[in-house]
Amino acid sequence: MAAPHVLVFPFPIQGHINSLLNFATALVDAGVHVTFLHTEHNLRRVVVSGAGSPRLRFLSVPDGLPDDHPRTAAYLPDLYKSLAAGTRGPFRDLLARSSSLVADAAGVDEPTGDFPPVTCLVADGLLGWAVEVADELGVPAIVFRTASACSLLAFLSVPKLFDLGELPFPVGGDLDEPVRGVPGMETILRRRDLPSHCRRPNATYEVNPGLHPLAKLSADSSKARALVLNTTPTLERTALEYIAPRVRDLFAIGPLHAMSSPAASSSLLREDGGCMAWLDAQAADRSVVYASLGSLARISREQFMELFAGLVATGYPFLWVLRPDMVADAAALEEEAVRAAGEGSKAHVVAWAPQREVLRHRAVGCFLTHAGWNSTLEAVVEGVPTVCWPFSADQQMNSRFVGAVWRTGLDMKDVCDRAVVERTVREAMESAKIRGAAQAMAEQLKCDVAAGGSSATEFQRLVGLIREFSS
Ligand code: UDX
Repeated sequence: MAAPHVLVFPFPIQGHINSLLNFATALVDAGVHVTFLHTEHNLRRVVVSGAGSPRLRFLSVPDGLPDDHPRTAAYLPDLYKSLAAGTRGPFRDLLARSSSLVADAAGVDEPTGDFPPVTCLVADGLLGWAVEVADELGVPAIVFRTASACSLLAFLSVPKLFDLGELPFPVGGDLDEPVRGVPGMETILRRRDLPSHCRRPNATYEVNPGLHPLAKLSADSSKARALVLNTTPTLERTALEYIAPRVRDLFAIGPLHAMSSPAASSSLLREDGGCMAWLDAQAADRSVVYASLGSLARISREQFMELFAGLVATGYPFLWVLRPDMVADAAALEEEAVRAAGEGSKAHVVAWAPQREVLRHRAVGCFLTHAGWNSTLEAVVEGVPTVCWPFSADQQMNSRFVGAVWRTGLDMKDVCDRAVVERTVREAMESAKIRGAAQAMAEQLKCDVAAGGSSATEFQRLVGLIREFSS
């Protein structure tokens, strides 16, 4: 029997790299060889740690964009297209060589090295073409989706939402109207809670042009040999129950960052460790608000000022992650905001934080987040209450779950007003009910990832399937 060797290929943006690297690390810990595939651009930037295992290596393929391309969130559609067009060929060559014992005919760039041949591809759900390539080459492929099960269920329900007339939303319609058509979610979801792609972006489009491609990718990923979601029935039992009959084999394995060796990280931006000393210097436990809007969100100057002023008004010290590309002229704006806050400002601003460590710190009392799936999972695992200000995509659904299903935090979606920020953050910091729910959730999640728990058991089942592929 050949040794199992999985080629793990994330969509090359931070949130996707993080969850697939956590997954890769768990596989390595289970004795599986893993080749983790970055793009050349990211492999040059990436700050890799915890990659000390002889069973884990990093390779790269071009992303098809010119070197000087900004590759920021606004250009994601470019990246999406260039990967499908420009990366497919090099990826095919790499997979063909890696999955075969036969050396590359030209004798160049032989990627197999000391590693056994690749026996399985685990591809990001946004890389449907990579699964097609694996199918062509006869390599078993598994799809891994980095977002929540509830958002997958919403994308799978898009045809039904159109059939029922729920989509497109009526012009000027009330976003608080409940939505039919996402099974099991009728009492939970309002129009505003569906993925942001369902909204009318302007008068030209009835829905965001990205909605149909994403719905198709979701339908395609359900045809793969197996589908892995970074979640657990504790968080999303109903969504998982409705997804399971629609896919060949469903694995709910999460939160993955709580299942793999803690040292593994793969940050595209350099973390500012100084904020840990700042947190250490805070005398009182749970006295600090941590605010971060993830790796992609770009906000306006007005939104920045409202969020910042609302945090200042709470009187709590706060740690704010201000990515240089998050707002135009970030450095000048930061100066202006701190000046406006005056002497009493207790803000500490960094460009990028070691988020998991921050959330684990005793001084952190709540997390103002955009409700990206990784950030949401990282908060619930630490039992930290969240205030959600979802920005786009699946975040609208995740924040609804936080506020209305798990009740581990509050959902501030579609409102960016300093008085609301102040009130909501205070409530999340001070409510014993919210903290109690967050801590109870964290306890249950610990059980899920521990030996015998649902995620640990599903992970073992998946490793068994991967081993079968190599027999
Ligand atoms: C977005 C989506 O919202 C998410 O649901 C989807 O699956 C991927 O794309 P993103 O904006 O990157 O993701 O948010 P999130 O999923 O929360 O991931 C951000 C990651 O960056 C987290 O793992 C977080 O720990 C990390 N991070 C963020 C840092 O390490 N430091 C920071 O300062 C901020």
